[in-house]
Amino acid sequence: MTRALVFDSGVGGLTIADEIRRAAPGWTVDYAADSGFFPYGVKTDEELRARLPGLCAALVGIAKPDVLVIACNTASTLSLADIRARVSVPVVGTVPAIKPAAEQTKTGVIGILATPGTVRRAYLDDLERQYAKGRRVIRRGTAGLVDIAERAVRGQPIDQEQVAYAVKPLFDPPDGPNIDVVVLACTHFPLIRDAIQQACPPGVK
Ligand code: DGL
Repeated sequence: MTRALVFDSGVGGLTIADEIRRAAPGWTVDYAADSGFFPYGVKTDEELRARLPGLCAALVGIAKPDVLVIACNTASTLSLADIRARVSVPVVGTVPAIKPAAEQTKTGVIGILATPGTVRRAYLDDLERQYAKGRRVIRRGTAGLVDIAERAVRGQPIDQEQVAYAVKPLFDPPDGPNIDVVVLACTHFPLIRDAIQQACPPGVK
């Protein structure tokens, strides 16, 4: 039996754990959340670099998975290589879906909603260079949506005004109104997908 360990800062990785369960119903899926250091999106790169490889190595030592899934864009875009170097099992990361967005856009303008950490990563620059040639990519970092998603999972109501406050600036730059595809580049965001969709202009996917 294959055993996967899914790791995130909080509840966001549950969206990835669900997908794994759907795709591989026979697997055992364990889950680890670094709630003591949550949220990752506002931590410095140095803080995360100092924490992630050692923590992941310790978790692998305890859970003994066949595969480690870093279900966090903020962690994957910074530390995937360092984590891989520290553990003896395959490590799968989660990174912004720029490639499918670049294929789907009709206007040529893509929006990326992510944490403040993810939007400043060189990893994102590389993804853009590789997969979004000739496309305009507009990034928006928000920690607010992460908190809203955490609260929603705990049964608290979603404040649509707060969601709109976090999402609207994505569409403010000169090309913003032409965005027709938005990448949810944080694993927390699909948990409040409908509220985010509602905060986007009509027609945005
Ligand atoms: N779920 C994480 C991601 O995909 C980040 C949430 C946080 O800021 O801790 O980026």
